[in-house]
Amino acid sequence: MVVASVTPAQGRKVKKFVHQNVEIPSVEPRILCVETANTSLVLAVRENGALHQLHYGSSVPAAEFAGMKPVIGRYSSGILAYPATGGRYLGEPALHIQYADGNHNTELYYTGHKVENRQGVVSTCISLKDYVTGLEVNLVYDAYVQEDIILQHVEVANTGKTPLRLLNIASGALHLQADKYLLSHVNGAWAKEMQFESEALTHGIKVIESKRGTQTTQCENPAFLVSLNTQELQEESGEVIGGALAWSGNFRISFERGPEKHLSIIGGVSPFASAYPLAGGESFRTPDMVWTYSANGAGGVSRNLHRWALKYRLHNGDRINPTLLNSWEGAYFTFTTQTLTRMIDDAASMGLEMFVLDDGWFGNAFPRNGDNAGLGDWQVNSTKLPEGIDYVASYAHSKGLKFGIWIEPEMVNPDSELAHNHPEWVIQSQGREIYQERNQWVLDLANPAVQDFVFSIFDSVIKLSPSIDYVKWDCNRPIESAGSPYLGIEQDKLYIDYAQGLYKVMERIRAKYPSVLIQCCSSGGARVDYGQLQYFDEVWASDDTDGLERIFIQYGTSLWYPAAIMGSHVSTVPNHQSRNVTPLKFRFDVACQGRLGLELQPKYLSADEMKFVNRCVSSYKGYRDIVFTGDLYRLGSPYEGSFYGQMYVTPDKSRAVVYCYCLHFDVLGGEGVPFRLRGLDPSRKYKVVEQNVDSSCWWGNGQSFSGAFLSSGAFKPALPSLYSSAIFLLEAE
Ligand code: GLA
Repeated sequence: MVVASVTPAQGRKVKKFVHQNVEIPSVEPRILCVETANTSLVLAVRENGALHQLHYGSSVPAAEFAGMKPVIGRYSSGILAYPATGGRYLGEPALHIQYADGNHNTELYYTGHKVENRQGVVSTCISLKDYVTGLEVNLVYDAYVQEDIILQHVEVANTGKTPLRLLNIASGALHLQADKYLLSHVNGAWAKEMQFESEALTHGIKVIESKRGTQTTQCENPAFLVSLNTQELQEESGEVIGGALAWSGNFRISFERGPEKHLSIIGGVSPFASAYPLAGGESFRTPDMVWTYSANGAGGVSRNLHRWALKYRLHNGDRINPTLLNSWEGAYFTFTTQTLTRMIDDAASMGLEMFVLDDGWFGNAFPRNGDNAGLGDWQVNSTKLPEGIDYVASYAHSKGLKFGIWIEPEMVNPDSELAHNHPEWVIQSQGREIYQERNQWVLDLANPAVQDFVFSIFDSVIKLSPSIDYVKWDCNRPIESAGSPYLGIEQDKLYIDYAQGLYKVMERIRAKYPSVLIQCCSSGGARVDYGQLQYFDEVWASDDTDGLERIFIQYGTSLWYPAAIMGSHVSTVPNHQSRNVTPLKFRFDVACQGRLGLELQPKYLSADEMKFVNRCVSSYKGYRDIVFTGDLYRLGSPYEGSFYGQMYVTPDKSRAVVYCYCLHFDVLGGEGVPFRLRGLDPSRKYKVVEQNVDSSCWWGNGQSFSGAFLSSGAFKPALPSLYSSAIFLLEAE
């Protein structure tokens, strides 16, 4: 809802830019409010047309802000809702433009706004203008009312005839007022994604960013939590603001704290090496910045984001993706048709629903027998698979399994026919070495011919068999020595055009193949963001399949992204990445937090292990709808103490699944570890049944208890040894 105090008076002139003789029409001051069920973002239009932000947080009666004076603070411009470099604003800009005459000044003034209501989403578009250059800017706020989510994006139009450069164009800015701010975000590396960190924000600017071009989330994710007035992250209480940028290229999110206890958050596409040109008449739309606020701690923020993502953002967010066996850790590059059909037989007998053929199936002139050759040559390798892909895929179907296949279409090995035929398609800086990583180069997706090629690869691979149901799309290196032979002197366009090129390809793929399942993989979790998730069904959260390591990776992922997207596999021991040895049950109990899969050679499992696998897969199928659609409640943090738990609860609170783990040996675990369950209806009785065991670790197993009892700390499963774990299914009577 928008509260408009009065309509603007037309034509009243209040100010002259003497140097340009430009007049700015005055407007009537008014309050604008972007509202969701429990939150308000309050903006004020001043008489001179400046747009200030007054509040973001819990719902407030917006009209009461009408008499509030602008907070001037550090800059005479006040707290601008979308600050641009220029005029009296001296802080971190959301918008920074350099005009053809070299000038860096932009001053934006309100010209009008529109509100549209579309089934649960209220969109407010506020138009601003720089009266000297004619630049027009639309700030768009899409309020997802029930989910308490606001998406912000910006459209900039160069209405003049001369070109300009976008030195920075953030998707959104948000200003907070509190005594203390705690920033939480994730950091990492290959096989160590999403490691959680928190820090108190002091004065100055803190930035989280990526300059990797591709694989932009391998180290930092474009997502954060800011907790107000606390020194530690609270799971179920306290005010927390969550943000996530929906962009798969370089990003930058800054947190600037000023002396007036004010915090400005600005997030968007990274300005790094990207002084993006905008010719006269052209416009630019930023990606979406996703904002949310909850008074119920980090858990509240996660649940808002998850509910919004499942309903509005994920491709096929209402689908339950199949359990699977992936060939990678079980076969790597070494297999024949018989290896695969045997794995398919085993997958069927374990009750799995899909077989995914990973890397190694392609390349003839340069066979893909290792990661050093063949990328780019997407023809079936006739030595390994003389019967072809259709034979294997149809075999899977004949056993009742779906079939999936791996591709990495943005990349090329120097040892490939593609690299020989199209050296001009490779990202490179003229006259410099084209560095290899994992023996490969990146294709220049800024080039429309490369976009066509990448689309054609997907298209032709799908056509290898009518039985292909799933594609694992990989991307195994960042951009180095950035350069596009296609862009000529406009190299500043590369990073942005690459990411947009990828989206253009995905648009075409989704237009033609709306229901093919596509996994977004990037050396594991190097592309987990809400930009990708418009097109992909799920992500491969990490190449690290060690159960213990996965607890932390999945915890970090869960802060912003729902369990439904999280590919999570049981692999062999010693683990191929960490060499760690954990019990098979622990590995299952961790993998069952997300979309369950196996990634091992089943023929090496003993008969007892096979039986156990069957039992776990079958029990998972009985509760996975709760994993895919339920609300997540984290029971503590894996970074604190010896024990960790989490649970999912169906929206109607009739069913829940609870996971409990011992991560460090603790002698007290044998006596029973108190977990205070969350999200249950206190007055309903739930039957509690432990999964995949003959004798339970909790005395109350098989009995019914009220939600109140289960949430009181009386639920105390015994977790006596390192890697003890348990899964309980709760069903209301
Ligand atoms: C990446 C992926 C793995 C696997 C290999 C294949 O590392 O993350 O899951 O697909 O590539 O080369």
